[in-house]
This record gives sequence, C-alpha cells and structure tokens, in this order.
Amino acid sequence: MATILAAVLILAVLHHHLPPAEAVTSICSSNGRNYTEGSSYAVNLGRVIDSLPTKASSSPSLFATATVGAGANQTVYAIGLCRGDLVAYTCLVCLRSGLSDAKLDCPLAMDVSIDVADTCHLRFSNLDFVASTNNSVQQAFFSTYYPTVASSVAGRFNALVAQLLQATADYAASGSSERRFATGEMVVDEDTSQLGGLIPNIFATAQCTPDLTPAQCGACLAGAMAEMPRQVFPRNSSGASFVGERCGLRFATYSFYNGNAMVQLHARPQGKKTATTTVLITVFAILAELLALSLVGFWVWKKKSSQRKAPLFINVEDVENFESIFIGLSILRSATNNFDEKNKLGEGGFGAVYKGALPDGQEIAVKRLYQSTKQGLGQMKNELAMMVKLQHKNLVRIIGVCLEDGEHMLVYEYMPNKSLDTIIFDPDRSVHLDWGSRFRIINGIARGLQYLHEHSQMTIVHRDLKASNVLLDADMKPKISDFGLAKIFTDDQTRKATSLIIGTLGYMSPEYALRGHYTTKLDVFSFGILVLEIVTGRRNNYAVNTEDLFSLVWKHWVEGTIAELSDPGLGRHYPRGEVLKCINIGLLCVQQNPTDRPSMSTVVVMLGSDTISLEAPYRPAYVLNRSRSYIDTTELVKEPLCSEPQSSITELEPR
Ligand SMILES: *[C@@H]1O[C@H](CO)[C@@H](O)[C@H](O)[C@H]1NC(C)=O
Ligand SMILES: *[C@@H]1O[C@H](CO)[C@@H](O)[C@H](O)[C@H]1NC(C)=O
Ligand SMILES: *[C@@H]1O[C@H](CO)[C@@H](O)[C@H](O)[C@H]1NC(C)=O
Ligand SMILES: *[C@@H]1O[C@H](CO)[C@@H](O)[C@H](O)[C@H]1NC(C)=O
Repeated sequence: MATILAAVLILAVLHHHLPPAEAVTSICSSNGRNYTEGSSYAVNLGRVIDSLPTKASSSPSLFATATVGAGANQTVYAIGLCRGDLVAYTCLVCLRSGLSDAKLDCPLAMDVSIDVADTCHLRFSNLDFVASTNNSVQQAFFSTYYPTVASSVAGRFNALVAQLLQATADYAASGSSERRFATGEMVVDEDTSQLGGLIPNIFATAQCTPDLTPAQCGACLAGAMAEMPRQVFPRNSSGASFVGERCGLRFATYSFYNGNAMVQLHARPQGKKTATTTVLITVFAILAELLALSLVGFWVWKKKSSQRKAPLFINVEDVENFESIFIGLSILRSATNNFDEKNKLGEGGFGAVYKGALPDGQEIAVKRLYQSTKQGLGQMKNELAMMVKLQHKNLVRIIGVCLEDGEHMLVYEYMPNKSLDTIIFDPDRSVHLDWGSRFRIINGIARGLQYLHEHSQMTIVHRDLKASNVLLDADMKPKISDFGLAKIFTDDQTRKATSLIIGTLGYMSPEYALRGHYTTKLDVFSFGILVLEIVTGRRNNYAVNTEDLFSLVWKHWVEGTIAELSDPGLGRHYPRGEVLKCINIGLLCVQQNPTDRPSMSTVVVMLGSDTISLEAPYRPAYVLNRSRSYIDTTELVKEPLCSEPQSSITELEPR
C-alpha cells in the first residue's frame, strides 16, 4: 500500500491560452444545385482548391479571392480568410483542411461555406458573391466544445457578450489594424453566485476581409451584430462563431487568440447597495454547501470503502479488475468543491481540469471530458481501461475514472510544476532550466512516446503532443498527458477530415493536417517541434509578423549559425555538441516525408549515443522560400485530398 501511495503522487494538466481541439463545420447552401464530376465547374473548383489556400496564406493579410472559369454555373467564385493573428503556414493548413472537409460534407454541392472553428473561413459558389462587401451568407457555428451557460445567468452573460462584441467590432472597423482584426476581453469581476452561477472572463474577436474600407467593415459587422439576438443569444452558449465571407464575430470563455486583448473591458458589479448582503449570503451558502458535500462525499466514500477493498487506488497488479478504479462522482464533487471555478487548473481540447484532494489528502487533477463523444458506455469503459493500463514513468498516471450521471471524468496524479510551456516560453522561469534539465526532458518525452508507440501492449498515436501536454513533476521529470484521448473524441469510421483537427495546428504534420493520415510518424513530427522549441525557447506558433520556427531554424542550420538560436536562458556554458545533436534530431523529425522521419526508438538511440553520426535532414515541411510561397506544396496535393488512410494504425488495437 505504501508503494502504491508513493507512486500515486503528483501533477495536473494545464492548457492556458491554448485553443481546444478545433471543429470544422461546412454549410452546404440551400440553393441545392449539384455539379457533376468532370464538368467545367468541377475542373474549375479543383483549380480553386489547389490555389486558394496558397494564395491566401502567402498574402500579408491572409486573405484571397478567386474567380476561375467563364460562363454561368461554370465559373467558381471563392473567398478565403484566416484569423488575423495567425502565421502563414497555420493559415495554409487550415484552409486546406477546410476545403478537404467541404468535399466530404457537401459532396458535389456548388455553394459551400466552411468554418474551421476560430481559425479560418471559406466559401465557394457558382454565384458571384465576391463583388459584394456584405455577408451574403452568414451563419452561427456552435462547437460542441462550448458548454451551455446556466439559464439563471444567461441573460447577464449575453448582455456582457454583446457589450464586448460591440467594442471589439468597433476597434476592428476603426482602421487601426490593416488586417481589420481585433481581439477583446471582458474581465468579469462581479459575483453572480447568488444567481446560481459564476460568469468567467469572456474573450472575443471581430474581423473583416482586409480589402473593406473602415466604413464597409463597420456596416458588415453591424449587420452581424444585429443577428446575434436572434441567431446566437437564445442558445445560451458559452461560445459561438458568427461568420460570413466578409466579416465575422467570435466569443468564448477561454482565450482562443494569440497575444493580449486589443480591447479590454471590465464588468462592473451590479447593485452596489446590496453587495454586502449578497456576499454574506453567498459565503453562508457556500459554507453550507461545502459542509453538506463533504459529509455526503465522506459518507459515500466510507460506504464504498466498506463494500470494496480499495476503491480509490489502483493496485498495479489489479488493473484487470477494472471496477477497482472507479471513483464516485460525489467523491470528486467534494474533492473539487463541486468543480469550483477557483479550483480550475485550465481548459483544454478534451475538457476542463480541476485540482482537488481526496479524503485522505492526496492531491489530484480531475479532467471533466466534454460530452462530444459518440461512443457508448461499454466502448468508453474499454478505452479508459486501456488507458489506465498504460503506465510508464514518463506518462501522467491515471488514478481512476468516473462514469456517472452522463459525466466522463479522468482522475490524474497532480503535477506541481505545471506544463512545459509555462516554463520554456516564460523568460523569467526558463533561465532556471539549464541545458542538463532540458536534455533530460527531451529524453523523457522521447521515452514516453516510444512506450506509447512500441512498448505498450498496443500502438497508441498521441495525435496532440505539444508543450502544454508535457507536465513536470516535483523533480522536473517530464510526463506526457492526454494520451489516448484523441481516440475517444474521434470517429475514425467516418474518415472525415474533421476528426483530424483533434491536433493543434502548429504541431501537425502535413500528411495529417491535409489528409487525416496518422501514423506514429505524426507524433514524431510533433516531437521534433517540441525539441526545437525546448532548445530555442521559441514557440512554434502564430505570432504575427514573426518568422515561423521552421524557417528560422532551417535558415540558421543551412548557414551554420545555429548556435545563435539557442535559448538565451541557457547562458554561455552548455555542451554545444549536444545542442547541435538535438537540433539535428529535431530537424530529422519534422521532415515532410513521414518515411524519412526516424522512429521513436531510433530517436532514443540517437539521443543516448555520442558516437553515432546523424543523417543530414531534408528541408522541413512548411518552410517558406524567398518568394513567400510554400516549397513543395505541389507535393502536398499530389494525392487526392480525401484518400483512405491506408497506412494508418488503428489505435488501441492489440497488436
Ligand atoms: C446533390 O448531391 C447530394 C449528395 O450526393 C444529394 O444528397 C442531393 O440530393 C443532390 N441534390 C440535387 C438537387 O440533386
Ligand atoms: C445557374 O444556377 C442557378 C442556381 O444556383 C440557377 O438559378 C440558374 O438558372 C443557373 N443558370 C444556368 C444558365 O444554368
Ligand atoms: C436561456 O436562458 C433563458 C433565461 O435567460 C431561458 O429562459 C431559456 O430557456 C434558456 N434557453 C436555453 C436554450 O437553454
Ligand atoms: C450592406 O452594406 C451597406 C453599406 O455598405 C449597408 O448600408 C447595408 O445595410 C448592408 N446590408 C446588409 C443586409 O447588411
């Protein structure tokens, strides 16, 4: 028991400021006309699909229109726009996956609008909508990742959203930003708990196509605002996108954009006079609830303990007996103070994470999964049982699961040093991470992945490896989190490109981003990016007007000036040979052709050997050439966009 307790220790899952898994939504127009394969329209559409993503992503404003062909119902009109805070390659990947999804969602439809949630928007049509400066089709998109707001606070919530959207829209249309893009945040200080729910901070974006004048942009956004009370607010959704081909508005209760808000508002507490009473009542209510909950929780726990031997802890030998890892919902409620916002550690692609403590004092992190899985309870249990069996020193340990009242929850060990991104991208914290620690972290991640790919009883492709999914224990040892979850949240049967968007755009290999092919080489690609991030201290992301990490590293690699790129936090004293080796390995992992990338076993061998001579990497996928167009994009579209993922590995199938 002592060993089990000792083993069951440590840290949680943080995803601050990272977007959750994206969803793609296509709207097939009601004009209902179909084209036929081989028709001029089909040929022209093919040209648009080949050219529009490249054209838009290589333009400084991330926007492009296209008119291809001649003649009624033979010409294809199209528009593509990416969110104003993205970099080119993220834009390219987004537009391409949106178009490949459109072909699956709306086969042969002549008029399709596509929204890749919070990231890019597209429309193609046989109708000439390109000349218009208004949205001809505008539509609300509600991702399953946006929970519903309790109806008791929905009125207030919607009012705050309207205020924030208006201010953000005004800023976007003011002409201050050439991209006609603005981000906003509503800081909610007021306590609405007496209404039966707390309102979190709200985040928003507003954007027009950059070719509109400030006045046209203002008129378009005003048109969108006018529709909110009818099409969006009645849903009481905590997030939505309302977009058309010319302008759009978005909001959510987590930060989904990069950088600080351009517009910041503060919600003033309402009804000042009654503030004191309200607070008192609230405090009493919370205390009473706490007391009741802990009593109930303790009672249930006691009761269950006497029924079963060890309901709270997994006995390592006893995982076969899956029942033993169930943890009651009431115990988790009292452990997290009824999922109190104050205990929230973060929100990620698969759910929100709360810190808690079990009745014996053990600290835990509870991941409350979003309800977007189509799986039945039986299948869900199987998946979870498989995940619990995965035990390795570089994987975050799952202590138990809860499947009650329609809730799906995973209970993890709590990790006190948070996630890797909170350290390596923070100049104040990263100076304390010397090369030795970084190298150990790289090694640990490699071993954890190798275990998932090769040494566990099944082959598991993580599909969303990134710095925020690597947690650090008290000794700064890395542990991978969120493994196995992609499988639960996707339906591989449908072969939809949508399911591929489970990953995070910046970390996706091209074959996955564009065609949904995933093999273990997808994780190798994401690992390569992580290595480059750890060595350089730079995020491979979306910062506007900065060179992306691939291009930067490749340029210095080719010019032999790579030492200039190592994180200043490393200081002057570090083994240059080892740093160069890691960059070489990172570059081998991000090569475009999956078969050129090494397996994780090979990576582990390369990391451990001082004598092995490494191959020279090919140019990474996604590197820009001088004319700012993508190298090898033709390569990327050689295969049909939605071909069967032949080489894919079915996850969690016993080998
Ligand atoms: C267009 O094609 C779709 C899918 O093949 C079909 O469901 C739909 O009925 C067709 N519409 C017309 C007007 O032919
Ligand atoms: C083209 O398609 C539209 C519907 O999208 C239809 O109303 C129109 O008659 C068509 N024109 C020709 C010349 O077929
Ligand atoms: C939204 O909240 C309002 C109260 O503000 C309520 O009347 C309505 O039924 C709720 N709608 C939904 C769809 O939950
Ligand atoms: C379209 O834009 C114009 C100004 O450019 C505006 O007056 C008009 O109301 C808009 N129409 C719609 C339907 O939003």
